[in-house]
Formats: sequence, structure tokens, C-alpha cells
Amino acid sequence: MTTTIVSVGLGERAYAIHIDEGLLAKAGAMIKQSHPRARVAIVSDKQVYALHGKALEASLAAAGIDYAVVLLEAGEKTKSFAGLEQCLNGLLAAKIERNDVVLAFGGGVIGDLAGFAASILRRGVQFVQMPTTLLAQVDSSVGGKTGINTAFGKNLVGAFYQPSLVLADIALLETLSPREFAAGYAEVAKYGLINNAPFFEWLEENKDALFNGGSNGLAARRHAIVTSCQAKAAIVARDEKEMGDRALLNLGHTFGHALEAAVKYDSARLVHGEAVSIGICQAFRYCAQEGLCPPEEALRVEAHFQAVGLPTRLMQDYGTADSLLDAIRQDKKVSRGKLTFILTRGIGKSFIAKDVEAAKIGSFLEKEIA
Ligand SMILES: NC(=O)c1ccc[n+]([C@@H]2O[C@H](COP(=O)([O-])OP(=O)(O)OC[C@H]3O[C@@H](n4cnc5c(N)ncnc54)[C@H](O)[C@@H]3O)[C@@H](O)[C@H]2O)c1
Ligand SMILES: [Zn+2]
Repeated sequence: MTTTIVSVGLGERAYAIHIDEGLLAKAGAMIKQSHPRARVAIVSDKQVYALHGKALEASLAAAGIDYAVVLLEAGEKTKSFAGLEQCLNGLLAAKIERNDVVLAFGGGVIGDLAGFAASILRRGVQFVQMPTTLLAQVDSSVGGKTGINTAFGKNLVGAFYQPSLVLADIALLETLSPREFAAGYAEVAKYGLINNAPFFEWLEENKDALFNGGSNGLAARRHAIVTSCQAKAAIVARDEKEMGDRALLNLGHTFGHALEAAVKYDSARLVHGEAVSIGICQAFRYCAQEGLCPPEEALRVEAHFQAVGLPTRLMQDYGTADSLLDAIRQDKKVSRGKLTFILTRGIGKSFIAKDVEAAKIGSFLEKEIA
């Protein structure tokens, strides 16, 4: 099969997402072509690097690229002020200059952190994404949102900073744990639930091939990743800075971010995609309760997420309804006391609601916890 290229149409900052198996071996040549004289700083986490670092280095070396390596701990806690400092110091120690390239090689944690570091290092250096998780290939590597978490909440410090190139090698997903694959899948299903009901139906029919991999699985994965990137690219091209309908991509995220903050970004307890799965199911349940969405559709979404092994309900100890509501108020989606939520009239029928009463969400959370 040939490489699928999805373009993100952002004028002079437009870029291509290449999606294929085996791109790791070609990465050096492709980066050399797009950034001929650049040195490259690979930013990665230790887990990804132990598995695929040597192959990436061989690819860059074969293209005659001079590179340095900055390695960070794996996990959500790295997306922090401390992780940012470590990353920036590593890049400075490697003498990365303005026209050099920061290459994010990892999941969404590395992509968000390295991208933010690239945006502020020497007031901005070149940035290339090589996403290695399903989540990063379908979502975080595309669209230019970069940043870190703080004690006050998720992604509260960051920048819009677009990469110049995205290389998504589907073969890298072979080494991903089932838990992380499922987590990324929550963001894939999200695109169907936002505005593409036929895609959600396709996922319901093809989930086994998608999850089990193998030769059928690769074709299914390619289709799911391409469809997701096309969906995200279309929204980002219309609304890069989230002044309007880019907010639809936050379906399930206002609830989800509160849960991630509640567990203090402890990946052992909850990872982003799992929080999104619970958050999406909560959004559907809330809308069913409010009479906005048919209850059977809320059940259908929950059944699908359960069938692929994702959590759909509040688990363990995520705090009280009050503490979750507090975290929700800290999220970016608050304006003059009213909460902005992505609500739904059913599968593929999500919409932005800017005037959701905090008290209503509070009593919904009480019910969810009970
Ligand atoms: N910028 C955006 O638009 C955007 C969108 C969605 C999510 N996000 C962010 O992305 C982050 C989550 O990203 P994630 O789910 O990729 O998590 P992650 O980066 O923590 O990766 C998950 C785990 O998988 C491991 N891993 C990565 N690639 C692997 C591979 N090929 N084989 C084996 N192991 C591998 C990592 O070491 C890590 O332990 C969250 O911080 C979330 O907020 C950002
Ligand atoms: Zn997300």
C-alpha cells in the first residue's frame, strides 16, 4: 500500500500527516528532505526509546543527520513544569538552534511536552511529530495544541504551535500495550460520536480486527487512523485556535480532565484515554437524563466502550461531586460562571452548549458517584 497523506490546511503553516507502515525506516530521509540543514533533537520517553530508539537513530544516521537525544520518564507526570525544565535543559545542552528540529518521538505526553518546549526554546524552533501511540496518531500529534499539566488542572499552560511534519508509522502500534491501545481508541470513537455516525457504526462492526491486529487488523487500523486524522484536520483548518467548533473535539474531556486531576495524573490509576471514555459516557448519560439524547444511544455507546475494555463509570476514589465540580470550574471551558460542555442529541450529533448550570452538573455527579 502507498502512504496516505492527510493535509492540514493552515495557509503558510500547512503541513502533511504521513500515515503508513514502515515510516520509521524512512524518517531520516523525509526529515532531511523537509529540513535539509537541520540538526535534530529526538525527545522521547525511556519506554518508547528502549523499543524503537535504535531504529530511529539508524534512520537519521543513514540520512546523514546529526542528532542528539533527550530522554524523559514515561507517563503523564512528565507533562509537568519539572518535565518541561528537564526537556528544555536537554535541548539547550544539545545546542539546538532556531533552525534545528525538535523531533517528538512518543505518545501524547511527549508530543505535548516537546511541542511546548519547541515553541518557547529560543522563541521557537522547528518541530516534527513522530507519534507512537494510537492516541497520538489520531489526535494529539495533529492540530498544534501543546502544553503541560499543573496542580490546578490539565493542559493549563501551553501554546498553539503547529508541527511542520507528522509521520505516523502504524507498525509502531504493534508494541503498544492493550491498555494503551484501548485508551487511544476512545479518541477514535470520539470522532464518530461527534459528527460521523457511519464511522461509529463501522467501528462497532470492525472493532475486533482493529484490536487484534494481524493482516486484517492493519487495514482496519489504517482506515481508522486516516479517518480520524481527516476529521481532526478538517476541524483544525476551520478553527485553529478554538474560537468555535474546534471545541467539539473536547467531547467527554471536561469530565475526563477533572478525573485525571483527581488522580494527580497517576498513569497507573487512569490514563487520558480512559478518562475520556468515562467522560464521553458521562456526557451521554447526562444528555439522556436531560431528555436531549435517546437513552438507548447512551447505553449503546457505553456497551461499545465496555466491549473494548474501556472504563465507562466513575471508579475507585475520584473524590466527591464537589471536588470534581471544582476541577471542572478550573478547566478552560468556563466563562462567567456558566460551564461550556459538549453535549449530544445522539450518536454523531454533538453540539457546544455554553450555558450549562454548574448546579445541574453537581447533582448529576452526586448521582454518578452514588
Ligand atoms: N495536543 C492534543 O491535541 C492532545 C489530544 C489528545 C490527547 N492529548 C494528550 O495526550 C496525552 C496522552 O497521550 P498518550 O495516551 O499517547 O500517552 P503517553 O504519551 O503517556 O503514552 C502512553 C504509554 O505508552 C508508551 N508507549 C508509547 N508508544 C509506544 C509504543 N509504540 N510501544 C510501546 N509503548 C509505547 C509510553 O511510554 C507510555 O508509557 C495526555 O496528556 C493528553 O492530554 C493531547
Ligand atoms: Zn483527548
